Amino acid sequence: MTFLRVLSVVGARPNFVKLAPVAHALAKRPDVEHLIVHTGQHYDALMSESFFQELDIPAPSVNLEVGSGSHAKQTAAVMERFEGTCLDLKPDWVLVYGDVNSTAAAALVAVKLGIKTAHVEAGLRSHDRTMPEEHNRMVADHLADLLLTPSRDAIATLKGEGIPAERIQFVGNVMIDTLIRLRGRAKGAARKLGVPERGFVLVTLHRPGNVDDPATLGVICDGLAALAKDRPVVFPVHPRTRQRLAETKRLGNVKLVDPVPYLEMLSLTESAALVVTDSGGVQEETSFLGVPCLTVRPNTERPITVSEGTNRLIKPGEIVTASKGIGDSGLGIERKAPKIERWDGKAGERIAQILCDGKRFD
Ligand code: UD1
Repeated sequence: MTFLRVLSVVGARPNFVKLAPVAHALAKRPDVEHLIVHTGQHYDALMSESFFQELDIPAPSVNLEVGSGSHAKQTAAVMERFEGTCLDLKPDWVLVYGDVNSTAAAALVAVKLGIKTAHVEAGLRSHDRTMPEEHNRMVADHLADLLLTPSRDAIATLKGEGIPAERIQFVGNVMIDTLIRLRGRAKGAARKLGVPERGFVLVTLHRPGNVDDPATLGVICDGLAALAKDRPVVFPVHPRTRQRLAETKRLGNVKLVDPVPYLEMLSLTESAALVVTDSGGVQEETSFLGVPCLTVRPNTERPITVSEGTNRLIKPGEIVTASKGIGDSGLGIERKAPKIERWDGKAGERIAQILCDGKRFD
C-alpha cells in the first residue's frame, strides 16, 4: 500500500461544493492523507464557513488569507503563499477545482515544484477571452497532469487543444454529487421567505460582464422589476453585485436578500418556477433538477446544459420576453429532469479510484 498525501486547494464559494465529494471519498481511504488549503479568496461567513459546515467538509489545515484584490494581486498572493505550503507539506498530488483565480494560481505553483496536479472540472470553455474564468481554466488545463472532466464535450475540447488523451479522464460532475447527497435535507426555504412554491423567480447575478457596467446592470434591473410586478422575484445578492446595486435604484418589488447558504439555495432552486442567473453552477443544478433556467450571458462553458438540460442563453434586455409562459404550470406538475451521462453522484468516488487505485474512466 503506497501512502499518498493529497492537497486540495479551494478559495471561492463554488469550489467548496466541488471539494465536498472528493473529501468524503478520500476520507474513506486508509492510505490517503487529504489536507485542505483555503486560499481565503472568499472570507465572509456566508460565502465560506457556512459551506464547510453544511457540506461536512473538514476544516482547512491552512488558510492563506489572501482576501480580495485585483486579479494580479490576488493570483500573486496565492502563488507566493501557497509555494511555502507545498514546500512544508510536500504533497504527492495537488487538486485544484473549477475556474477561480485560486485555481490557476495553485496549479502554476504546484507544477513548477514538480508536484503532480489534477484539475477537477477540466475542459470547459466559454470561448470568451474577456472572462477571468476562461483564463483560469486554460491555465489550469494546460498545466495539470490529470484533467478530470464533467462531460464528454469537455474531452473533445481538450483533445482539440492538443492535450493527449492519457491525461484526460471523464469522471462526471462533482457539483451534482453534492446536490444528490444533500437534496433531501434542503426544504422549506420558499416558505421561510414567504414566497409560493413554484410561484416565484429566483435570481443570481455576479459576473463582471453583467454587474460591473452600470448600463447593462440597469437594463437587467428593469427586466427584473418588470417580472416582479407579476410574481415574486427573490434575489440573493453576491457581495460584488451588492456594491453595484447600491448605485442603481431600479429594482421595484424585487426581494433582495443576503447570500444564502448552500441548503437554502438548493431548496430555493428546486422550488422556483424559473431561475435567472449568470452562474455556471446554477446552470448545471437547474438542468439536473429540471427547473427552467435563463442565463444572462452571450455564451456558456457548459453547453450540455443547453443541448441536454433546461438552460437558455439570453441578452440582458430579453428577461421579460424570454420568461413569458415559463413555469406557469405551477405545483403538482411532475418536472422532467434530463439524465446527463455521469451526473450520477459518483464523480468524487471515481476521482478517489483514479488517484488511489490507478483506475481509468474514459
Ligand atoms: C469569484 C470567481 C468567480 C466565481 C465567484 C463565485 C474569480 C476570478 N472569480 O468571483 O469565477 O463565479 O467567485 O462566487 O476567481 N467579497 C466579499 N466577501 C467575500 C468575497 C468577496 O465582500 O467573501 C467582495 C469583495 O469586494 C471582492 C468582490 O466581492 O472584491 C469580488 O470577489 P472575488 O473573489 O474577487 O470575485 P467574485 O466576484 O466573488
